[in-house]
Amino acid sequence: MNSLGHDHKPGHGTPSDADAILDAEITLLPMLDHLESMVSGDGATRLLDLGCGPGIGTVELAKRFPSASIIAIDASSEMLEVASRRVEQQGVGDRVELVLGDFDRDLRQLLEPVDLVWASLSLHHTTDSAAALAHAVQLVNPGGRIVVNEFGTHLGAWPDSAAVVTKGIWARFSQASATSRIEHLGHDPASTDWEQLLKSLLLDEVRAIEHQIHYPPTLDSSQRRWLTRYLSRALNRCASAMDASDVAAMEELLDPSHPDGVELSSDVRIEISRVIYTGVRASDEGSH
Ligand SMILES: C[S@@+](CC[C@H](N)C(=O)[O-])C[C@H]1O[C@@H](n2cnc3c(N)ncnc32)[C@H](O)[C@@H]1O
Repeated sequence: MNSLGHDHKPGHGTPSDADAILDAEITLLPMLDHLESMVSGDGATRLLDLGCGPGIGTVELAKRFPSASIIAIDASSEMLEVASRRVEQQGVGDRVELVLGDFDRDLRQLLEPVDLVWASLSLHHTTDSAAALAHAVQLVNPGGRIVVNEFGTHLGAWPDSAAVVTKGIWARFSQASATSRIEHLGHDPASTDWEQLLKSLLLDEVRAIEHQIHYPPTLDSSQRRWLTRYLSRALNRCASAMDASDVAAMEELLDPSHPDGVELSSDVRIEISRVIYTGVRASDEGSH
């Protein structure tokens, strides 16, 4: 494993490896399908996974781009150790280089430019998104592309007629959860205008595409497990800022024996979105 910069722990309640695998199944794989169809004509042979975490996306990139080499960078050596085991287990270790590095810094001394930078749910961890994005763009070959996958709308899980919605509990929980995320990160990730930032970096073909991820009722067991873990993590983060009665109501819904809860309800669903921001680095920068 190469190394540049410090090792640091991932922020804002980054999920454990088991949760990260579930997260990937539920929310990352659909986005990688979109990425694959978006860039299939680009002929990218050198890819960079920026903030690769436990390497779930890295492995999927390697499988979807079978002739490409992939550099996966993260600031956490723990994450990279998990990623290292994963790429070996999945038989793509020979095409993946894992690098300990901090994308808040200029990485050009460490990395050769690539054809495609993929940054999934990582760039919002920095307090200076503009600087991190500028550093990422510097790593893209002229004519190459950067793709940023970031949070879209908040989670929906119950129909409008459910008591948790009509009593306002869900709205208050969602608000408290969003506020706690801002506190953990030290800034509001939703306020970052990635599209405008990409334009300001003189990229061509800048687009923002919101993708809905919907799992309608009835959820299967892994979808229910994902929702339970997601809500539990969020509730742990924000319970102290909520009324005790709202916390008790949310805990009830996480009780596996409660008939209206995540585990047993036939109404519960998953409705979230992710936004893919993309731009192409101009081939001739003098043209701008
Ligand atoms: C939520 S995880 C996303 C992992 C993966 N990209 C995915 O979509 O599943 C965010 C990752 O970004 C990494 N990260 C945060 N700040 C970083 C920085 N300044 N430099 C490099 N990696 C960073 C964290 O260590 C963490 O592994």
